[in-house]
Amino acid sequence: MKIAIGSDHGGFELKEKILSLAIGLGHEVQDMGCYSLCSVDYPMQAYKVANAVASGQYDRGILICGTGIGMSITANRVPFVRAALCHDIFTARMSREHNDSNILCIGGRVTGPGLAEEIVKTWLKTTFKGGRHKRRVCMIDQNGKKGSGQE
Ligand code: RB5
Repeated sequence: MKIAIGSDHGGFELKEKILSLAIGLGHEVQDMGCYSLCSVDYPMQAYKVANAVASGQYDRGILICGTGIGMSITANRVPFVRAALCHDIFTARMSREHNDSNILCIGGRVTGPGLAEEIVKTWLKTTFKGGRHKRRVCMIDQNGKKGSGQE
């Protein structure tokens, strides 16, 4: 898969670990910064990754800040982005199976590296279940309206 990854300073150290993990799993990963522990404004990286995924240039995105909250709030402002802030493996799996999440957000100051790696592995390998969930995901982009011919 083609993956775009980004962080702010609060997520930088975890981002470096997740970047290596994803490359090791055989994915093509683009690091969209930041590139050091120097303080940066998280909306910059969030929009870079979110726009790259929304445009179809990348299949998925991973965003890491201190809590994951700023990244998820920002990324979800971009149409067709479904960013899921996950602190556990179950939520990561469900965000793929039911919500077809295309961006995973993690809190670098919340989730330890071991758990974060398991969350990422689960999120990357889990597929969308479709069916009734597809109808609901379509409704997100249609302001809650049901489209014609949907299951
Ligand atoms: C940066 O100090 C911190 O606010 C940021 O990493 C993030 O937690 C925002 O949601």
